[in-house]
Amino acid sequence: TALTLTTAGTMLAGTPGQAAPTGWGRPVVSAAPQPGAPGLGDSYFPDYGNGGYDVEHYDVRLRYEPATDLLTGTTTILATATGDLSTFNLDFLLDVESVRVNGWAASTSTAGAHELVVTPARTVTRGQQLTIVVRYSGVPSETLVNGYTGWTRTDDGALAVNEPESAWWWFPSNDHPLDKATYDISVSVPTGVEVISNGVQPRPPLAEAGNRTRWIWRTTSPTATYLAFMAIGQYDIVTDTTPSGQPVINAYSTSLGALGPAARASIERTAEIVDWESGIFGPYPFEAQGGVAGPVDGISFALETQTRPVYGPGFWRRGANTYVVTHELAHQWFGDSVSVADWRNIWLNEGFASYAEWLWSEEQGEGTAQEVFDFTYASYPADDEFWQVLPGDPGAARVFDNAVYDRGAMTLHQLRLAVGDDAFFEILPTWTAERRYGNGTIEQFQALAERISGLDLDDLFTTWLFTAGRPDVASAARKAA
Ligand code: ARG
Ligand code: ZN
Repeated sequence: TALTLTTAGTMLAGTPGQAAPTGWGRPVVSAAPQPGAPGLGDSYFPDYGNGGYDVEHYDVRLRYEPATDLLTGTTTILATATGDLSTFNLDFLLDVESVRVNGWAASTSTAGAHELVVTPARTVTRGQQLTIVVRYSGVPSETLVNGYTGWTRTDDGALAVNEPESAWWWFPSNDHPLDKATYDISVSVPTGVEVISNGVQPRPPLAEAGNRTRWIWRTTSPTATYLAFMAIGQYDIVTDTTPSGQPVINAYSTSLGALGPAARASIERTAEIVDWESGIFGPYPFEAQGGVAGPVDGISFALETQTRPVYGPGFWRRGANTYVVTHELAHQWFGDSVSVADWRNIWLNEGFASYAEWLWSEEQGEGTAQEVFDFTYASYPADDEFWQVLPGDPGAARVFDNAVYDRGAMTLHQLRLAVGDDAFFEILPTWTAERRYGNGTIEQFQALAERISGLDLDDLFTTWLFTAGRPDVASAARKAA
């Protein structure tokens, strides 16, 4: 075993008066276990995620009290060590009661803004299977980092829905899209409260003692940590099955009142829009579909939580809105199945989901993609700050800047004009097929577009994604042509 080899190596290297053996194929190297890195070296969020292990599965088993926002639970993490480790980190903020690694009590400490440092009773060796059991409790709405909580407490429950930080407030994790895993998520709440999460319900809610109900959800596709979610509160749940047998589970907060019909008229079109997008982006990557219309006092954005986006109430104020549904569902391919390898690549998510809206506009007869391009381009004067943000490298504070969305979609339209429709509509499904359940970078996407089109696209990508100032449309199109 690795331990025996380490011991032998140490003895050989450390025995005084004994010549180092010669003629061996492999040098004897010290394999002293090291602390796992506190981050994965993301260029925007260097301390997100952790080094030294790779997670396969999270079993998140919780108990929630809407009246007090008290969250208690146990998360069991199945992981594989990728190095010999003396300690390793989890990203987490709630109070940890105990951690066990492969059954043995581990000691813990905290570091940085959101690091839980775990020191196992026995050192971990590379390739070892780890079962990490973390017991914890806390009040997530009162657990602040720089005055901020990513958890939303509402009148009747809570939303664990946010990007890029969301997991810290409800389960310990390796919090970076580079480490995807499957999930079992179950939550006990007072009977009468609903809990919605990712994937499918492998069994109906289970009655528990004390007039409580446990909701059980399961995700079998690799999922990034920020795409796992919970919506807890008063919801009407509407379930269906597509003709091809896929579960569709939608949920509507009962707080929506007059906004409810517009929410339903939008989210109930999920299966239709997934079907249409599948024809453009390639086969739908996941095991279930759906949407959650969040409560009136919830979030002010929408998020592409995997298999089941969550929508804030603001999207329904002017009536039905199938554009936001199209956007969040496009993320199932661009963001969820193919995730950013580094948060600097956020254009691969937001530019593509925004361009899906332009294609939907064309499909609906509400303006061609070219017309939406012209309108969007003209809506930002040349001296607007908008043109100073680089969609390909917006900076950590501007990952959701309008430029990433609107100039990001403009970039894809320019790419389409440059390579032609045949190549463009081959590039999109090839990207989702080649990187399915994985990660990507802008450079890899450019390389794929060049491979399929046979064109050098460096000028186009540099101009539209990486150069401040409003590009001149006619010359940009000419250069690439
Ligand atoms: N990915 C989301 C979307 O485009 C944006 C999330 C913004 N996050 C936030 N905390 N405001 O639909
Ligand atoms: Zn988006």
